[in-house]
Amino acid sequence: MFSEDKKEFPVGNGKIIQGNCLEYLSEKPFSERIDLTFLDPPFNQNKEYNYFDDNLPIAQYWEMMFKVCEGVHRITSDGGAIYFMQREKNTEYVLKCLRETGWTLQNLIIWKKKTSAVPCNTKYGIHYQIIAFATKDPPRIFNRLRISPPLPPNYKYERDNGVYVTDVWDDIRELTSGYFAGDEAIRKSTGERFHKQQAPIALLLRIILSSTKPGDVVLDPFAGTGTTLVVAEQLGRKSIGIEIDPENVKCIKDRVNNIREADNVEKYYKDFIHTENLNEIWNLKSDTTVSKKKKLQTLNLFEG
Ligand SMILES: C[S@@+](CC[C@H](N)C(=O)[O-])C[C@H]1O[C@@H](n2cnc3c(N)ncnc32)[C@H](O)[C@@H]1O
Repeated sequence: MFSEDKKEFPVGNGKIIQGNCLEYLSEKPFSERIDLTFLDPPFNQNKEYNYFDDNLPIAQYWEMMFKVCEGVHRITSDGGAIYFMQREKNTEYVLKCLRETGWTLQNLIIWKKKTSAVPCNTKYGIHYQIIAFATKDPPRIFNRLRISPPLPPNYKYERDNGVYVTDVWDDIRELTSGYFAGDEAIRKSTGERFHKQQAPIALLLRIILSSTKPGDVVLDPFAGTGTTLVVAEQLGRKSIGIEIDPENVKCIKDRVNNIREADNVEKYYKDFIHTENLNEIWNLKSDTTVSKKKKLQTLNLFEG
């Protein structure tokens, strides 16, 4: 099942592929049908990556993203979903890329992070990132999550049963550097963050709960630290990650096989209790959530 040269490794109920996602998505036959893909590529903003030039000519970068979206579309089940995260300034490219590769846009989600805006001199400061949610034809599944955000100051009465999640997500904090990133941020023994682009588990929890059911297959072609895989595993979804940097692959293996307390999704369960079909989609019976969790603050690979 796993290739001889050990480029594919089983992790939890899924696998991590060490390699270039373009190669896997455009050329090789893919054995699984994918139900949901989370796409969080480098944003081409000159950040430091060991195995990626994050300062490509714009046309080359979007040619690459086109191939990724096309490849994901090819291996996605009918009605399957993609969530493509990007900087707001790239919105028009994202929408074009998805449209021209056959995806049907469902929502342009605004992720208004709970951190300060990026100041700008000649225009308004930037306070959000976009997540384009699209499907291959009409969605095969969409679970309408209900959450209980704090009551706005002009509201007099508590809500009895929460509100449906909308296309503006302003309740999920990004993992910034320093103290505020908390325990969830994976750190080296020096205290420095292991991967500056690590996504919050709350973000992936919302996406996976909304667009899949237990047993579905979730793909992350730019897996980074494996946030998608660690959440999918706890919810009883099968996950496939692709990551080019071997150090990140090592991190993913440890992170998914030894789920840390900081990555435990159970703490968010109460936030969704007003969701009509929560028990069905959360997969409470899964033994991955409770029994496999380990109270590790630092992953083994960073010791020594
Ligand atoms: C923005 S980060 C993803 C972070 C991830 N969402 C997380 O929560 O950790 C993008 C990742 O894509 C990886 N990458 C870049 N080019 C790649 C490629 N062609 N194939 C696979 N992975 C790639 C980088 O090494 C980096 O870890």
